Amino acid sequence: MADTGSSEKEIDDVSGVETTGHEWDGLKELNNPLPRWWVYLFYATIVWSVVYWVFMPAWPGISGHTKGVRNHSERQNVDMAIAALDAERGERMKRLLTVSAIDEVEADPQLLQYALEAGESLFGDNCATCHGAGGQGFVGYPSLVDDAWLWGGRFDDIKTTLRHGIRSTDPNARFNMMQAYGRDGVLSRDEIEDLVEHVVTISGGEANAEAAARGAETFAVQCSSCHGENGEGLKDLGAPNLTDAIWLYGGDRDAIRTTLYEGRGGVMPAWGERLGEEEITALAVYVHALGGGER
Ligand code: HEC
Ligand code: HEC
Repeated sequence: MADTGSSEKEIDDVSGVETTGHEWDGLKELNNPLPRWWVYLFYATIVWSVVYWVFMPAWPGISGHTKGVRNHSERQNVDMAIAALDAERGERMKRLLTVSAIDEVEADPQLLQYALEAGESLFGDNCATCHGAGGQGFVGYPSLVDDAWLWGGRFDDIKTTLRHGIRSTDPNARFNMMQAYGRDGVLSRDEIEDLVEHVVTISGGEANAEAAARGAETFAVQCSSCHGENGEGLKDLGAPNLTDAIWLYGGDRDAIRTTLYEGRGGVMPAWGERLGEEEITALAVYVHALGGGER
């Protein structure tokens, strides 16, 4: 390796380009200039960085950083965006407070969309544990997606149910208790067996006709005040329709027998204290729209 020094310029014979004077075992380094476009791009980036320092936050200092003449701050932008969103939400939430009928919500597609989204999220947080993620229900916890309602599926019915609950601790709770006919000795074992056959019959199943006929007589005396003469149910009393083959506790003989022997008395908590009125409204809009919402 020999450095011949740079006092004399040496031109490479083959390319005609000046060498740097560096040589390694006979290989010489050519001194090609940088491509012009590259050089200009390089200068441009330097100019850009200076412009950037002037306008945007750039240099760190002891307390904070240079702010730049635009005084730009991502954090501030995010804060402003959140505030704007809150204001918009607050506005919609406030509108839900003044809504008195489902038609009013449905007439305003944006408000409806908003109520449905808020309702769905509230439902996931508060209701899904008992009623299922999509409101499909479980044994003892009614489905909210079908047309069958215990206490009524109109917007106002749903709101009342939500506000005060069913057999809850709320003084205005929906309340009606079916007796434990067997346990309390109101009906004999045979009478209960006959009633089971009758209920199976009216819900469309196959049953012992003689027993069912005896059951029908007991039904008229003991049960029709709540469930209706033909077992069609009575929403004011939360008494389910026994003829629609939709069951809260089950429609096989064992389940019906247990219902009659022990009574049931499902409890739905009251939400009026826990949720705001606008949240109750959003939930009612959501539940009403799940399917089966009545007018
Ligand atoms: C602890 C369990 C539980 C939770 C949580 C719960 N529910 Fe219920 N819900 C019930 C039960 C049980 C019933 C049926 C009570 C009965 O037998 O009449 C019911 C009934 C209802 C009804 C009346 C259905 C009808 O057919 O009339 C509606 C509407 C309802 N729930 C909506 C909700 C909403 C909305 C929420 C969330 C805010 C919720 N529930 C949370 C247990 C619950
Ligand atoms: C005081 C009103 C009342 C009377 C009287 C009454 N029930 Fe009920 N029944 C209800 C209510 C309310 C329910 C709702 C379930 C609950 O308690 O959670 C119910 C539920 C039922 C169910 C369960 C339905 C399901 O979907 O799982 C059956 C079956 C039933 N009753 C049959 C009878 C029969 C038969 C009689 C007469 C011996 C009778 N009921 C008398 C109010 C009454």
